[in-house]
Amino acid sequence: MSTSSSSAAEREPKREFLVKFFIVVVVSLICFLIFFFNQDENNKYIIETLELNGSAKAGDALFKMNCVGCHGITARGLVGPDLHSITQRLNDKEIIKQVTGGLTPPMPSFEIDPVNMSNLLKYLHNLE
Ligand code: HEC
Repeated sequence: MSTSSSSAAEREPKREFLVKFFIVVVVSLICFLIFFFNQDENNKYIIETLELNGSAKAGDALFKMNCVGCHGITARGLVGPDLHSITQRLNDKEIIKQVTGGLTPPMPSFEIDPVNMSNLLKYLHNLE
């Protein structure tokens, strides 16, 4: 009798540890899933854009409306830098982040749908 009750008491802290361990694992898993799906949302836009084959002509029109004020009518640079051969320095993903991110003021962030973003990319590739 006394033996079994003492072994039950010994088992108690172990069980407590396992319960805590289980909670930590579940919480980490939830955090990971939230992080993962957030990343997925961001990447969806980029993947969708990269799957499209944009039109340089439409991109040119977009550039004239939104970008020439800072990058110049021929993209040779004004307030913003010259964008010729930009596609050799930055990959498409980086350019998408540059245009949509607003991370380098005074350049604003542009809310631009994937079709128009791919048009702009095509235009920038054609500048080379
Ligand atoms: C208000 C001015 C402004 C407008 C409008 C603007 N830009 Fe910019 N852009 C800048 C400035 C300034 C930089 C340099 C930022 C830095 O590197 O700190 C820049 C940088 C960039 C770069 C990265 C250049 C490099 O050498 O790393 C790209 C690509 C770019 N712009 C594309 C665009 C496109 C495409 C548009 C139109 C949709 C646009 N920009 C509109 C000001 C502007």
